Amino acid sequence: MENFEYCRPTRYVFGKGTEEQTGKLLKEYGYKKALIVYGGGSAVRTGLLGRVQDSLEHAGIEHIALGGVRPNPRADLVYAGIKMGRDEKVDVILPVGGGSVIDTAKAIGIGIPYSGDFFDFYTEKAVPQAGVPICTVLTIPAAGSEGSDRSVVEKEIDGVVCKNGTASPFIVPVFSILNPELTYTLPNYQTACGVVDMMAHIMERYFTNTQGVAVTDRMCEGILAAIVENALAVFADGKNYDARANLMWAGTLAHNNICGVGRVQDWASHHIEHTLSALYDVAHGAGLAVIFPAWMEYTLKHDVMRFAQFASRVFNCDMDFSDPERTAREGIQALRHFYKQLGMPLNFSDIGAREQDIPLLLNMLCGSDPEHLEGNFMKLRREDCEQILRLAAHYQS
Ligand code: NZQ
Ligand code: ZN
Repeated sequence: MENFEYCRPTRYVFGKGTEEQTGKLLKEYGYKKALIVYGGGSAVRTGLLGRVQDSLEHAGIEHIALGGVRPNPRADLVYAGIKMGRDEKVDVILPVGGGSVIDTAKAIGIGIPYSGDFFDFYTEKAVPQAGVPICTVLTIPAAGSEGSDRSVVEKEIDGVVCKNGTASPFIVPVFSILNPELTYTLPNYQTACGVVDMMAHIMERYFTNTQGVAVTDRMCEGILAAIVENALAVFADGKNYDARANLMWAGTLAHNNICGVGRVQDWASHHIEHTLSALYDVAHGAGLAVIFPAWMEYTLKHDVMRFAQFASRVFNCDMDFSDPERTAREGIQALRHFYKQLGMPLNFSDIGAREQDIPLLLNMLCGSDPEHLEGNFMKLRREDCEQILRLAAHYQS
């Protein structure tokens, strides 16, 4: 196991009706004026935004609101939010929504005190030195942004859409409100995208060369198996509270790094996927359903036993000790079968991606650096990433 430090100070307030506490909690921390950020309308339609605003008024917290965040969030709204936040002197940002809304709020939070372009943080030109605090009300278990130190935003630079991430302790939420009932209104497609994403966050950590990490291995496997079970229960009954609650908590645990400590993590599949969501505006989870199994097929031989262990412990495949590669391949098949049950795409044509765009996707991923490497489990060169994209393009179920 590698040395590590773990500090994720986010306070999680979990359960039915917890959004009613938003104002009281903000007051407890001494905040006076909030910038509420929300998405394309679901929070308005469900009445959630109104309930949150009422709770702020009740607690005497002033508030202004910025709506219209799109999935795969764009920089434009971040600039608008930074201006609003500065003009109105807000002292807290309150995203009410999913990863796109929370990531926009995080970008606004670190953008307000910064004199340059906030996107400098996303191109590694600058490191955040301060931020307006973030408190979240989560409406979709997926990206894990409610407990992560990351934010991902898109900006068009020289005609190319760049989907880049940044990490900073200044964007780790102070508190996050998680009411599983708020997820009853999710369309099945969005629930499924969330399931794929949270599984990917665990698998990016699980596939490692670090030895002696049995505790986090077992945590990864246990949470993955529970996600599969509870996702199927939610698909059978969208108002199954306990299944929704388990998915919601799994989404947070998948990405607040409790499963990732002490191990070298991979993240190649995420970086490859971000080029798909940038180019085709496909949902991040849908892109991952296409890319992750292809990455697994390509890297399988690097550590067959790890893939066989994944197959046996997550999907209950029989371990074939005489031919562990068979078990390993069964695990990848089981994962794809599960994604299919959830109605997720499995190849390029399912998401409207085109094989002839692969050189462009590779340029977006690797830039002009011939030495560019992706991932850690297996260090992938440009030509390896190309093979993974081709596997994803050609897969036939
Ligand atoms: O915009 P509205 O109308 O709210 O609709 C949203 C959106 O269309 C809808 N939705 C959310 N909650 C709902 C609901 N519809 C009905 N009822 C509800 N309760 O769901 C759609 C997707 O929302 P979005 O916020 O885009 O989903 P998600 O949470 O999956 O976030 C995806 C973004 O997060 C990034 C992804 O790349 C992507 O841009 N990620 C962020 C990470 C992080 N910050 O740590 C890590 C991830 O790996 C990921 O990259
Ligand atoms: Zn993700």
